[in-house]
Amino acid sequence: MKRAFITGIEGQDGSYLAELLLAKNYEVHGLYRRSTNGGSPNLKHLRANPLVFQKTLFLYPADLDEVDSIRVPLEKAAPDEIYHLASQSHVGQSFEKVEETCRVTGLGTLRLLELARQLPRPARFFHASSSEIFGSPEQSPQDENTPVNPITPYGCAKAFGTQLTKIYRKNFGLFAVNGILFNHESPRRGENFVTRKICRAVAAIKAGRQKELVLGDTSAQRDWGNARDYVRGLWLTLQHETPEDFVFATGKLNRVQDIVEIAFRAVELDWRQYVRQEAALFRAADPRQVVGNPAKAKQLLGWEPTITFEQTIVEMTRAELSA
Ligand code: NAP
Ligand code: GDD
Repeated sequence: MKRAFITGIEGQDGSYLAELLLAKNYEVHGLYRRSTNGGSPNLKHLRANPLVFQKTLFLYPADLDEVDSIRVPLEKAAPDEIYHLASQSHVGQSFEKVEETCRVTGLGTLRLLELARQLPRPARFFHASSSEIFGSPEQSPQDENTPVNPITPYGCAKAFGTQLTKIYRKNFGLFAVNGILFNHESPRRGENFVTRKICRAVAAIKAGRQKELVLGDTSAQRDWGNARDYVRGLWLTLQHETPEDFVFATGKLNRVQDIVEIAFRAVELDWRQYVRQEAALFRAADPRQVVGNPAKAKQLLGWEPTITFEQTIVEMTRAELSA
């Protein structure tokens, strides 16, 4: 039985990855953030399952800011594979919390790499990097060779972690890889990301609990995929024979406005009556033309997205309606 160690296990990706690995008969050890005390609904069903919890799934409170809180469970788990997903992951908030973002997202990755290097038995290491490392790139679509040039504090912190992951691979012989992840969504997405914010609001408007939806820049574009497809990609990177970085993306651009139209259409309402933009929600800097080329993942890992943007938004809207 293989053992996996997941940081950020209660987040969107962490919870889907835990399910995927348990289904593959892994023993899964995961860190959740101590200050939130395991409150996320994403893992509730697994915590409540006596056949799984404390049998093949083990959870530990920790903080990326405190190295001992990571070291002790990591040494106990003695994993074959480490998936480092924990992060201050909100780009907009990274402008308000610059230092915290760099500490948690940047230095947190360094701390974990260093702990991984010191393990008596080598473990394969995955770092959740981001398309935000490219900033507003001149080359489109972006791939593994696109220059790193972040324009947000979050992107800067991820760029630091990404470069260190390469350094630990090249200089210390660690099997360490970056998955350069473009946006991916699901009903488990954090509530302050734009897809979930829109789908929640649309369901609340339909139910008569909310009157309007206030957004930032609705012309903003992203390459949006589905989280379940992406966690499969993360796992594949650590099964590959050599450690390499991979872009995970759909290769298709959509606008925030497209999410609005799909979600309102799913509940048979006219978005024009409910949506307005507010300048205060526009970002100080917002990447443009961020769209990925996943050809390398397709060629070497056999990875391809299977769930479309529209299917994801409809699924998220329906999940909010029945919540
Ligand atoms: P997420 O839902 O925000 O999950 C991140 C997890 O990290 C949360 O459970 C959070 O705990 C935990 N965390 C935050 N600060 C921590 C700290 N100081 N110590 C310990 N744990 C801490 O993010 P996600 O969408 O699953 O994404 C997974 C990873 O991929 C992240 O690193 C993200 O930056 C990266 N990424 C995501 C996307 C995407 O589109 N989803 C794209 C590119 C890269 P709480 O639940 O208590 O806040
Ligand atoms: N959150 C939010 N709220 N975003 C809005 C809003 C709003 O009211 N209105 C417009 N937007 C725009 C943002 O300006 C951005 O251009 C786009 O919607 C997507 O915003 P988010 O959903 O917050 O995601 P993100 O692209 O900034 O960051 C996500 O993807 C990155 C990969 O590209 C996060 O998951 C990051 O962790 C990840 O690295």
